[in-house]
Amino acid sequence: MTPKLFDRLALPVIGSPLFIISNPDLVIAQCKAGIVGSFPALNARPQGLLDEWLHRITEDLAAHNRDHPDAPAAPFAVNQIVHKSNDRLEADLATCAKWQVPIVITSLGAREDLNTAVHGWGGITLHDVIDDRFARKAIEKGADGLIAVAAGAGGHAGKLSPFAIVQEIRQWFDGPLALSGSIATGGAVLAAQAMGADFAYIGSPFIATTEANAAPEYKQSIVASRAADIVYSNLFTGVHGNYLRASIEAAGLDPDALPEGDLKTMDFGGGNGSKAKAWRDIWGSGQGIGVVDRVESVADRVARLVGEYRAAKARLTG
Ligand SMILES: Cc1cc2nc3c(=O)[nH]c(=O)nc-3n(C[C@H](O)[C@H](O)[C@H](O)COP(=O)(O)O)c2cc1C
Repeated sequence: MTPKLFDRLALPVIGSPLFIISNPDLVIAQCKAGIVGSFPALNARPQGLLDEWLHRITEDLAAHNRDHPDAPAAPFAVNQIVHKSNDRLEADLATCAKWQVPIVITSLGAREDLNTAVHGWGGITLHDVIDDRFARKAIEKGADGLIAVAAGAGGHAGKLSPFAIVQEIRQWFDGPLALSGSIATGGAVLAAQAMGADFAYIGSPFIATTEANAAPEYKQSIVASRAADIVYSNLFTGVHGNYLRASIEAAGLDPDALPEGDLKTMDFGGGNGSKAKAWRDIWGSGQGIGVVDRVESVADRVARLVGEYRAAKARLTG
């Protein structure tokens, strides 16, 4: 069962939150194109900027809905990093409450009081997990839905096959479930649904869009790279994630001989700590970017996904 607010999607896709990269332009374009748009609250710096971002997103989407009653925008989501180093969490939650953010995506920690707070203003929560054990914990703590982060995802990726994680979660959970990791075509979106997921959760392909807040060189590197150019390492944040080989080389490191990282150094504080630099200079990406062959607008990328999705469905149903 998926909540009613997902009824108005053009495609069962959530544009996933991308540290530094997701900004109001990207989110608004995703929602107008008919997929859920999202951003990490921490991208709005300083904290006071979050209020301005939510104001703008809410007003722009309301105006769009007034002008296009037949094709209303998809809902948007804010990502909260639930980690003890995130000293902005309480303030960010209060700002989300003010704007009654429809969907809150939580990462790196499941908290009952946070789920209760979001439910208090009528929102829903989706929690991202890398295995079935964390999935059960998240639902026990009151999350409404899950995001299964499989192997090959950009950013902090899991190690499990998408089949393995979705199959296990679907044995006991029939609520909203998104699948994340290397999904980059409409056919792969349909495959995620065939497996049992309700949504595809897509990140890296949106880095190579005109709206994304990424350096032109980063966008071009997404276009030029393929799965074999993705390196899995815990050096940069203490948690294993996937990164573009070219950016590691540019930082003077040997991608094939990276030392182990340290979980204790993970820092999601409100300031511009050295870990932010890790994401600015060491570029995150999932393995699915081999099919991303150009930088284009979000509208064009979503239209392409919709076309591929329909073609895949027609192929399968004859
Ligand atoms: C550069 C980059 C930054 C990311 N930042 C975040 C983040 O701040 N919060 C979060 O929950 N996930 C983050 N992710 C993970 C994505 O939300 C999502 O799980 C992933 O991109 C999906 O895999 P894909 O990139 O292969 O589509 C990030 C991923 C990338 C590539």
